[in-house]
Amino acid sequence: MHDFPLFLDLHGKDVLVVGGGAVAWRKVQALLKAGAKVRVVAPSLCAEIAASPIDHVSDVFEPKWLEGVWLAIAATDDELVNEQVAEAANARKIWVNVVDQRQLCSAIVPAVVDRKPITIAISSNGQAPVLARRIRERLEAEIPQWTGALAALMGRFRGKVANTFSAFSERRRFWEALLDSNVSQQLAKGDEVAAEAELTALLSGDNSRQGWLKLVGAGPGDPDLLTLKSLQALQAADVIVYDRLVAKSVLELARRDADFISVGKEKGFHSVPQQEIEAILVREAKAGRRVVRLKGGDPFVFGRGGEEVLAARAENIDVEVVPGITAAAACSARTQVPLTHRGLANQMTLVTGHCQPGGDDTNWRALAQQNSTLAVYMGLTQSSHIADELMAGGLAPSTPVLVVENGTRPEERRFRTDLGHLADTIGKAQVKSPALLMIGDTVTLYQEAK
Ligand SMILES: C[S@@+](CC[C@H](N)C(=O)[O-])C[C@H]1O[C@@H](n2cnc3c(N)ncnc32)[C@H](O)[C@@H]1O
Repeated sequence: MHDFPLFLDLHGKDVLVVGGGAVAWRKVQALLKAGAKVRVVAPSLCAEIAASPIDHVSDVFEPKWLEGVWLAIAATDDELVNEQVAEAANARKIWVNVVDQRQLCSAIVPAVVDRKPITIAISSNGQAPVLARRIRERLEAEIPQWTGALAALMGRFRGKVANTFSAFSERRRFWEALLDSNVSQQLAKGDEVAAEAELTALLSGDNSRQGWLKLVGAGPGDPDLLTLKSLQALQAADVIVYDRLVAKSVLELARRDADFISVGKEKGFHSVPQQEIEAILVREAKAGRRVVRLKGGDPFVFGRGGEEVLAARAENIDVEVVPGITAAAACSARTQVPLTHRGLANQMTLVTGHCQPGGDDTNWRALAQQNSTLAVYMGLTQSSHIADELMAGGLAPSTPVLVVENGTRPEERRFRTDLGHLADTIGKAQVKSPALLMIGDTVTLYQEAK
């Protein structure tokens, strides 16, 4: 470690900023946020600094302006002035930061993730500020906004917890249990009252945790297409009930010690019937566990998510749905074939090619429309019938079709064909599930990868 990390309490303390431009304004803003009394020395100020509650010295820098300050920041575009500030501050043993001149600094201003009262500071010792910023962006994305509210709540209850548990080990156990409880779940929903009630119940010895169920969309396969909310749910879950379409790389993002229950169809095995899946979800949530039902794509697009929500509601289980990127959106983006496009398609239809028991109840002929993109899920087996019906409904055999197998996954394959040759293409290429059929004139925009 090169520098000693330290957080400064600047509330009510004098800080000098030398410079009155945009760079100085960024520093002034941060200092005011930290409660500092800011004195700005600069012959002129940008409009933002001029309008802020600072003490302005309309002058060039002179060492006397360092009198009584705890920290100095040089933010001018004149290297000579910056050097003078650093030299004068060092002579007076005042910490000094010179923007973009690491060699002149005795103090570095880090990149910050602010979840007040939690503050995370990242520094590269001035060697790779862009990398430090990138790390900050990752943390910004991964640390939920409610983390600050959780820390503040814990702070408010510190005294009560200390009065309840005299031994340090007991207190620590309590705080650990709290972090695994539903308190954060309530804060994530923005319900501070429920979070406080939950904490109070825990404090009074009620350890019976209410389980919950989240139906989480895992997206099409590429783990980078998971939403932040999905990731957070995966990392909070005790049990993950997943189906065959969920990519292994997505499952790897879950908590290592979670229980994984596969309910999807595997080669040679039957999938778990829907009612049995619902029974598993209800059983686990009622046992006080945090259950994530992880589904490919979006839970509410051909995912039977609605049935699982109803099953949870019937048992009074707290249920939430976290959307995911559905196959049509993902395949469209990957192949750069838009689902709608001015002049080619002013509507789109997501439809399943999977037959219900008792026969095909989709009116394919009615779906044979111009100016429309059809995204057919689970359409491989019925592709010949679907193409015949669409052509009988009026679509030309030359209507372009793009078949996307394993969209967004490393093993992705695409086949550009037309309605007249659809079944033939699928048969010859031995296209396998999961695959999506995109049908309509928007497919003319498709360009083979070079
Ligand atoms: C049971 S449905 C589930 C759909 C999912 N809920 C969604 O929103 O994408 C399964 C079908 O979705 C389509 N599908 C899912 N993931 C896909 C992918 N990565 N590439 C192409 N099609 C996919 C296939 O048609 C597959 O047979």
